Amino acid sequence: MKKHIVMLPGDGIGQEVTKAAKKVLEAVAERYHHTFTFESHEIGGAAIDSQGTPLPEDTVAACKKADAILLGAVGGPQWDHLPGHMRPEKGLLGIRKKMELFANLRPIKGFKQLLHASPLKEEVVSGSDLLIVRELTGGLYFGEPSERRNGGKEVVDTLAYSHSEIVRIVDQAFQSARVRRKHLTSVDKANVLESSRMWREVVEEKSKEYPDVTVEHMLVDAAAMKLITSPSSFDVIVTENMFGDILSDEASVLTGSLGMLPSASIRSDGVGLYEPVHGSAPDIAGQNKANPLAAILSAAMMLKYSFQLEEEAEQVENAVKEVLDARFHTADLAVHDGVEVSGSEMAAKVIEQISSND
Ligand code: NAI
Ligand code: MG
Repeated sequence: MKKHIVMLPGDGIGQEVTKAAKKVLEAVAERYHHTFTFESHEIGGAAIDSQGTPLPEDTVAACKKADAILLGAVGGPQWDHLPGHMRPEKGLLGIRKKMELFANLRPIKGFKQLLHASPLKEEVVSGSDLLIVRELTGGLYFGEPSERRNGGKEVVDTLAYSHSEIVRIVDQAFQSARVRRKHLTSVDKANVLESSRMWREVVEEKSKEYPDVTVEHMLVDAAAMKLITSPSSFDVIVTENMFGDILSDEASVLTGSLGMLPSASIRSDGVGLYEPVHGSAPDIAGQNKANPLAAILSAAMMLKYSFQLEEEAEQVENAVKEVLDARFHTADLAVHDGVEVSGSEMAAKVIEQISSND
């Protein structure tokens, strides 16, 4: 298989972790006789410094021609003083919107080697394995108007969705549930919001096409509570943009480390942007300390969702498990009796497993 991948390392540890993930993709290509070609472009703070904009035209053009995109992270204190439209995050929001990547998938699965690292009790997080499907290009973060009014005495943001925007994200969630444990929780605020009432109607309508998937509706406040009291009761969660943003960050503490969490932002034709959930971690950037596993697991999601290479994706996930089983860990993970390694050593261990596994 031949695929072209655009790399957007971005800022801080984004540079280190995407380099590690690229090496893993190269190891997969070699072992399974695929051809992956790469080209790298600027986004975020790095792009602001060299080209005066967080999302240069050539970056967008390259992404539009790519089969998949691998992004590191954007941002850092040196750009915090910039006005909203010039900030590094604008690059990220912009590329998601321009590529119409409407579905953000965040799998959250506790690695048994790391359960003790969660702030929650081991017996609560043990067995949790869920997927959050967040709508990414609509809702409150994009609705117009969004402005100060009446000489600054009023302010408005808008939560707007078209029917078709809801249908496509809900359909993606049903598809994901179908290949997992076949249970979908739709999260909304239907007791208050009209948009949530339409959301519920769409979920009910869609559920007729997926009779094998059980559906429940849950109010977002109840869901926030249940996520930490009984996370293992969830399989797939589908929700609108802002609820998904908040719930997915909440769910990320289940596994204990930001350095372990991958994500995918995809659209119906399979093109996707893959990125670790964590940020640019300026406090450890450039020290070869960053945990590359979130980026490596994001690359595994690319193999699965954009290239349909299920076996290869599983091979990468298994390699990560084996390295953790052997008690290797980066500085962010406290592993009892473990062997601490640098970010690049961690990547090398994973690659060793990929190349040697039968
Ligand atoms: P952060 O995720 O960058 O870091 C939070 C803490 O976790 C830090 O102590 C960091 O050292 C640690 N950490 C994060 N990833 C790690 C990894 N792979 N290995 C080891 N330790 C890791 O979040 P923070 O500090 O709130 O933001 C820093 C910058 O990143 C800000 O400019 C922020 O805007 C940006 N950011 C960007 C995101 C993105 O590009 N998607 C997401 C979140 C933040
Ligand atoms: Mg967030």
